[in-house]
Amino acid sequence: VILKHIRYLVTQNSDREILENVDVRVEGDKITEIGESLSGGEEVDCSGKVVMPGMINCHTHVSMTMFRGISDNKVLEDWLHEDIFPAEEEMTDEEVYEGAKLGIREMLATGTTTFNDMYMPERKVAEAVDELGIRAVLTNGFVDIDGEGERKLEMSRDFIEEYLDHPRITPAVGPHAVYTCSPEILEKAREIAEEYDTKIHIHVSETETENRNCIEERGKTPVQHLDELGLIGERTIAAHGVHLNDEDIELLSEKDAAVSHNPCANLKLGSGVADVPKLRKNGVTTGLGTDGPASNNNLNMFDEMKFASLIQKNRDPTQMTEQEVLDMATIDGAEVVGLGDEIGSVEEGKKADLVLVDLDRPDMRPVENTRNLVSNLVFSFNGEVDATMVDGDFVQTNGF
Ligand code: NI
Repeated sequence: VILKHIRYLVTQNSDREILENVDVRVEGDKITEIGESLSGGEEVDCSGKVVMPGMINCHTHVSMTMFRGISDNKVLEDWLHEDIFPAEEEMTDEEVYEGAKLGIREMLATGTTTFNDMYMPERKVAEAVDELGIRAVLTNGFVDIDGEGERKLEMSRDFIEEYLDHPRITPAVGPHAVYTCSPEILEKAREIAEEYDTKIHIHVSETETENRNCIEERGKTPVQHLDELGLIGERTIAAHGVHLNDEDIELLSEKDAAVSHNPCANLKLGSGVADVPKLRKNGVTTGLGTDGPASNNNLNMFDEMKFASLIQKNRDPTQMTEQEVLDMATIDGAEVVGLGDEIGSVEEGKKADLVLVDLDRPDMRPVENTRNLVSNLVFSFNGEVDATMVDGDFVQTNGF
């Protein structure tokens, strides 16, 4: 298929080029050519449209759409222990699957083409991913507080083995956090990640309480504790990183660990504000995530970009420009989840994970040139995209 007459192509390539009036050829699951007047094959008219790379949601628990709005006014610890854990105990596998489908539909409708998820049983999320055509990094997440750590670790292994060869699913290991997993289980989780060469997706320094307890119990911050167990490295996707000291940031940077910044959930649960400008200045790869819909309460990455910018502008409006947050949502997010060579930008040879936005929408006007285009996408557009393509297939269209 050829996407013809694209008004603006936001490539997110290394020069952050925005091309005007171009065509994009998609063959199979890949972008094979970008140029003018391409022909030969089925054509889709994209005049009056922006085409941009699909976004990467670097941290979520998609099935928690089922718990949207059940607990809106508590700090993380109360929210988790009083409302979420009890609700999850009652949750059926069917609800994990239905919740995932609901969340994936929302993500596709708002321009997300890849998400990094942690839940249980994750095979129900994988079924929904398989069915609805989105791309995902999936971990069968686990806690170790019920003495079932070993059994859950084996479930993680089984899950990884089952999905190692799926074209759109990348399995990973997901120990929940330092306060829910023993050092022994964390080390075993690392061994599985090494054995299968996967990412390790874990919550890190989300709240002050987590840090305080970890320091009291182990004499170290969560990052330093994890580092000692060998869990800070290229494989690491640390969700949150709200309460990191300079030493933590240096460790993350030195060892090439990545962070998912989740501003909406951090604000809503009163967890604090991650110092993302400092992380980025120190060379820590940082992406954006929504976290689960019980603490956000949506999965809209356009919202997340705006919040990621405003949460820093609160202190200094020169920080976190529209281009920086778009980078976090696309090319940097791709690096975070380990798919930087395949997704995150519109370039020849990459996967055809694309999003179409209509320029005629009131919330995208005026756009006279490329100067305010990214600004409009980040600060004014409500996220209702025209169409979403994953792996070369249109998997979602809003009347386009
Ligand atoms: Ni989370």
